Amino acid sequence: MTEQPLRTGSHDLPPSAEFQDFMTRGWAPSPLPGELQLPVARFTASRRAGLSARFPGQRLLIPAGVLKVRSNDCDHRFRPHSAYAWLTGLTGEDQAGHVLVLEPSGPGGHEAVLHVRPRSPRNGGEEFYRDRRYGEFWVGRRLDLGETERTTGIRCEPLDARSPLPPGRNAAHDAELASVLSELRLIKDAWEVDQLQLAVDHTTSGFQDVVRSLPRALAHPRGERWIEGVFGLRARAEGNGTGYDTIAASGAHACVLHWIRNDGALDAQKLLLLDAGVETDSLYTADITRTLPLSGRFSPVQRQVYELVLAAQEAGMAALGPGASFRDFHRAGMRVIAEGLTEWGILKSPEGDQHRRYTLCSSGHMLGLDVHDCAQARADAYLDGVLEEGQVLTVEPGLYFQPDDETLPAELRGIGIRIEDDLVITEEGARLMSGALPRTPEGIEAWMGELLDG
Ligand code: GLY
Ligand code: MN
Ligand code: MN
Repeated sequence: MTEQPLRTGSHDLPPSAEFQDFMTRGWAPSPLPGELQLPVARFTASRRAGLSARFPGQRLLIPAGVLKVRSNDCDHRFRPHSAYAWLTGLTGEDQAGHVLVLEPSGPGGHEAVLHVRPRSPRNGGEEFYRDRRYGEFWVGRRLDLGETERTTGIRCEPLDARSPLPPGRNAAHDAELASVLSELRLIKDAWEVDQLQLAVDHTTSGFQDVVRSLPRALAHPRGERWIEGVFGLRARAEGNGTGYDTIAASGAHACVLHWIRNDGALDAQKLLLLDAGVETDSLYTADITRTLPLSGRFSPVQRQVYELVLAAQEAGMAALGPGASFRDFHRAGMRVIAEGLTEWGILKSPEGDQHRRYTLCSSGHMLGLDVHDCAQARADAYLDGVLEEGQVLTVEPGLYFQPDDETLPAELRGIGIRIEDDLVITEEGARLMSGALPRTPEGIEAWMGELLDG
């Protein structure tokens, strides 16, 4: 057999030399006019200063991350790493490959330098019209270096594949640097709290959309998917999308904590657990769960379970405040659950941790740029830490009675209920950010009734 090149590359028609030459000419300059500075740039400099103070004399690299192939020549949508977004304010899909470098400079400080891909030149090279990943005619215009400097207030240098970045501590694989970045993000500044409130408000709209869509969702053989789609429409229209995959769980699917297959039908006699959050363009996400009776009214047994979860959530929220330990609200909520299950004869005693068979997971976590925010923080600062003003977290107790659990009376099996709200720790206690969505059974029934009749 003769060795022939396989020619398996691009199947685009090859360009002629005349066409390539033609494409180099006749383009007007297109600078971006006006004030470009991001409102968040007022906050990012002090965030970088906080990081700088922790690593005197050391070069730090905080990459945005790189594109990841989804299939063949299609990439997954790109979302910059949360630490990069937090330190630069840059959140767009055009940030792929960019790196923030903190260069040691002066006594103990750093100078921030952003290494970014310049705009593709129009008078040479074919990137702008032939490169599917980075070409302006394929994925849209990106900022040039000067524009990025005006946007962020950070000096920029061109990213150049031929000259690698200088060596330094890299947040992508330096556990200590990653943990410090997580810990610095534990307390939200005023701008972040506003963004989280915006995420919550859009999520409230998404939940309203879902209730209005229930008649169509109930009629569809994959009603859970219908609901995921309705919420996703709101998330995409108002923000960047959803902050995590929507959980739309009908009936016993609600006993699977992260049910994101969402391929089931809705049963009008059962509950729908909807756990969903809009992520803003600034990449902050809400994380809210409501468990709704698809008939519009809770049955007596559904209501009984719901009220126990609600009482646990109330106890958890009441335990929040500056100076309380992170574990306090879990303990308070779980105590209520354990006592309730004991009263119902499911547990012999509220002591110990047997109740965890029915609650499965922790009842809350930090919230921010990531749904499970600040996850690399050390236990001293998070799990074993003390709450501080400006922290934002969820309180989300649940009861998950598996359909095959023989320790339970038959009427409870297959019921899964979670109630999840978002709160910010204040000077005096905690402010409920997601209070626009009803939580009591009566409130939910009235709210559903209004939306379905309206
Ligand atoms: N939506 C995931 C969680 O509630 O933690
Ligand atoms: Mn959560
Ligand atoms: Mn959730």
